[in-house]
Amino acid sequence: MTRRPAASGKLDALLEAALAARANAHAPYSRFAVGAAILASDGRIYAGTNFENAAFPLGLCAEAAAIAAMVAGGANRIEELLVVAGGRALCTPCGGCRQRIREFAGERTRIHVAGPRGLRRSFTLAELLPHAFGPGNLR
Ligand code: THU
Repeated sequence: MTRRPAASGKLDALLEAALAARANAHAPYSRFAVGAAILASDGRIYAGTNFENAAFPLGLCAEAAAIAAMVAGGANRIEELLVVAGGRALCTPCGGCRQRIREFAGERTRIHVAGPRGLRRSFTLAELLPHAFGPGNLR
C-alpha cells in the first residue's frame, strides 16, 4: 500500500495507513495485531502488518513488513515511522526491528508509537537504539 500524504496531517496519514494495515494482521496465535507505516524519502507512505505462522519463529513484525514494502517500492530512506497496537504498554519496536530500521534511518529519525485512538509517544531512533551498529561501520 503506498500513497502520498497531504501536506498537513503527516502523522494522521501515518496513523491511518498503519491502522488500515493492522486491520489485516494475521495474528491468530498472539492475538496482538500491529500496524506500521513509514514516510519514506520519496514522499510516499508504506505500511505493513504482522503476520504469524504456525511454525512460530517464522512470524514477521509489522515494522519489518513495512520496510519490505518500502524497499519493494523503490525507496531506501525512512523519514518517520509510526507503529500502532493495542494494550496498556507502549508498543515500541522490538530489538530486531530497531536494527532493521537503523539500516534505513539515522539517529534523529522519529519513531512514533500510537494506540488505536492516536499518538502516545515519539522517540528518536537514537533513544531506542543508542550507540547503534549500522551501515557506516562497514564503510
Ligand atoms: N510485533 C510487531 O509486529 N511489532 C512490534 O513492535 C512488537 C511485536 C508482533 C510480533 C507478533 O506477531 C506479535 O506482535 C506479538 O509479539
